[in-house]
Amino acid sequence: MHLSPAPLVARRPAAPLTGIVRVPGDKSISHRALMFGALAVGETRITGLLEGEDVLRTAAAMRALGADVAQDGATWRVAGRGVGGLVEPADVLDMGNSGTAARLLTGMLASHDLFAIMTGDASLRGRPMLRVTDPLEACGARFTYRAGGRLPLAIEGARDALPIEYRLPVASAQVKSALLLAGLNARGQTRIEEPTPTRDHSETMLRHFGAELTVDIVGPGRVITLQGQPELRARDVAVPGDPSSAAFPLVAALLVPGSAVTVLGVGLNPLRAGLFEALREMGADLTLANRRDAGGEPVGDLTARHSALAGIDVPPDRAASMIDEYPILAIAAAFAHGVTRMRGLRELRVKESDRLAGIAAILAGAGVDVEIEGCDLLVHGTGRVAGGCTAATLMDHRLAMSALVLGLAADGPVAVDDTAFIDTSFPGFAALMRSLGADLS
Ligand code: S3P
Repeated sequence: MHLSPAPLVARRPAAPLTGIVRVPGDKSISHRALMFGALAVGETRITGLLEGEDVLRTAAAMRALGADVAQDGATWRVAGRGVGGLVEPADVLDMGNSGTAARLLTGMLASHDLFAIMTGDASLRGRPMLRVTDPLEACGARFTYRAGGRLPLAIEGARDALPIEYRLPVASAQVKSALLLAGLNARGQTRIEEPTPTRDHSETMLRHFGAELTVDIVGPGRVITLQGQPELRARDVAVPGDPSSAAFPLVAALLVPGSAVTVLGVGLNPLRAGLFEALREMGADLTLANRRDAGGEPVGDLTARHSALAGIDVPPDRAASMIDEYPILAIAAAFAHGVTRMRGLRELRVKESDRLAGIAAILAGAGVDVEIEGCDLLVHGTGRVAGGCTAATLMDHRLAMSALVLGLAADGPVAVDDTAFIDTSFPGFAALMRSLGADLS
């Protein structure tokens, strides 16, 4: 997929950013719609699916496991095989850049009596898999991997999978979802305790497909119980716009003087909405209209207008609800007045890149006073950023898009070494930003 780097330069535009746009479908929900569709009986029809590289890898994997996945105009059709019905793939499963695809698929395969090998690109091959393989061994699956639990990974799925009981040691929706996917084809009840709630798209969609699943609130956390071996029934899924993608044009509008940008149909699941809460605390003029429901997920239209921002303290217990948004929040913080301290960001070290180091390096290169203290990121905002630098994107789509937004508001241009990875989550990003008036060349 990734043959040659695609550099791009962002400059402050001559006029404000204005317009009304839609962003591509939610990445998390798109992966899950394809996977649950493949395990359901009948034909699942998906609209708004993210047609980005990461999700296309999941679609290809579902085909390799025997599901019939076809694109029919704006609708994707998945003819599922039923729970327990996946077949052994004839070749290596290559999940590209996608941690979500790799982790969730590992769970799915762990409770099928088959052998599979999974790999990915250089970024994914560096990311930890033990967080899923260790708990999945309890269902009877066996795994072989490179040192440190890195891909390529060989999976010998359980013949007769046992249900798993597990308390998540890290706040991770990917680990939770991998265990739920394994539990679908296990006899009895799978029970997962998460001390910190993480995005609950799997739980919502499993119920939508007819699974018997309960969620109990226990203190600040949750206990999820899934009854194994249900018959999942094909359903229609309308994927909302990805809030993690909407973040880029919305923050750009907050930072470029005079701007007003609306993004229609954005997913507003409260377990994903931490960024919008943080931006409002900083003084952002961010308004919500037309709030509605799409398949159990809240959706609305968000408008951002240029705002003077102030530094804030972002508590660690908010990290799970905005884990992918710290790079773009750090950009907003650089243009704020005062210090923004983002606490408890250990998990950023194991994303598509080491995002804690990556975003700090981009900001420092642009002349921003930034510090990493333990797992905290501190950005000393002065209201303006020099820019005039080249950002290293480290095979990370969100670092690339964050750096380009930085360049739209900085005094000098910001070049980005490689924008090819943006297609993993936000195909059409540059064209959409240009349609709002952004100067990207
Ligand atoms: C995701 C969960 C998060 C997030 C990722 C998507 C998901 O990862 O960073 O982009 O779809 O479940 P973790 O589970 O590692 O926090």
